[in-house]
Amino acid sequence: MTTMAATRRMGRQSWRIFSMQARRCSVAHDHTSSSDPKLTNFGYREVPENEKSKLVGNVFTNVAGTYDLMNDLMSIGLHRLWKDRLVSKLHPFPGMQHLDVAGGTGDVAFRVLHAIHKAEHRAVGKLGGKSEAKNETRVHVCDINPNMLEVGKQRAHKLGLENVEDLVWMEGDAEALSLEDNSMDGYTIAFGIRNVTHIDRALKEAHRVLRRGGRFLCLELSHVSIPGFQQVYDAYSFAVIPAMGELVSGDRASYQYLVESIRRFPSQEKFAAMIADAGFQEVQYENLVGGVVAIHSGLKL
Ligand SMILES: C[S@@+](CC[C@H](N)C(=O)[O-])C[C@H]1O[C@@H](n2cnc3c(N)ncnc32)[C@H](O)[C@@H]1O
Repeated sequence: MTTMAATRRMGRQSWRIFSMQARRCSVAHDHTSSSDPKLTNFGYREVPENEKSKLVGNVFTNVAGTYDLMNDLMSIGLHRLWKDRLVSKLHPFPGMQHLDVAGGTGDVAFRVLHAIHKAEHRAVGKLGGKSEAKNETRVHVCDINPNMLEVGKQRAHKLGLENVEDLVWMEGDAEALSLEDNSMDGYTIAFGIRNVTHIDRALKEAHRVLRRGGRFLCLELSHVSIPGFQQVYDAYSFAVIPAMGELVSGDRASYQYLVESIRRFPSQEKFAAMIADAGFQEVQYENLVGGVVAIHSGLKL
């Protein structure tokens, strides 16, 4: 049996999985049918597994140009605070090798890079002007969709980061990363894992590329745990978000997919067990805004 200890602090909930015999739950059981061809969810629709990636690709190709504006509107700017919280849990340090998967338009990667640069400046201050780690820092932004990466590169240009050698843009699939084993100190994925076809494979890849001591962090829209708030949240999600998507992006269907895909994503506890299944230890999660989003974390030890 899994033993869990729960702590409640300041309205946030954090669970630690103490036992590595966490419930063995596979993504396949939760999300696919055993019939042939294998099916998976795309929002509320069941689609063949080999079609999901293309359908998700269409979603982000359609919304890439207005993606950042929509994030601000939908979350009334809160996604910025959630991403700040994610990065604060990463404890970035000078010379860090970091991978942000499903990095899209670079929002998380820019924050990680900024935090590393701040840490470098502090280190330079302490060392009296010398920082040997500076040139070794690498923040990789990996995304399967070239349109999202293109918007990210334009943003980097505006931020004066276009020629910064420590920011690396990579087109790639979370399920099959083109990085060496044990090569990364940190791995983040924000609002991305819900879109991946085989979540278990993506988690195993995260574990493979991280070094011992490396930290896995996932920020994802999750499941609301406050009675009464659920109805308000559902009404907002299903009535407002697709309509907003239509108005701003001219694309209702992509935002309908967004709200449906959140409901199909595993519960906080189930996802924590999946992270433990991939080999991570000290798996925890923190709910923000009553579970609208959750930050899951784990260590490769
Ligand atoms: C909701 S966006 C999140 C972007 C960014 N992380 C953020 O928080 O703003 C989801 C991203 O996941 C990417 N994505 C979907 N499936 C992927 C996969 N299998 N591998 C890598 N990226 C994927 C999409 O292209 C999209 O850019």
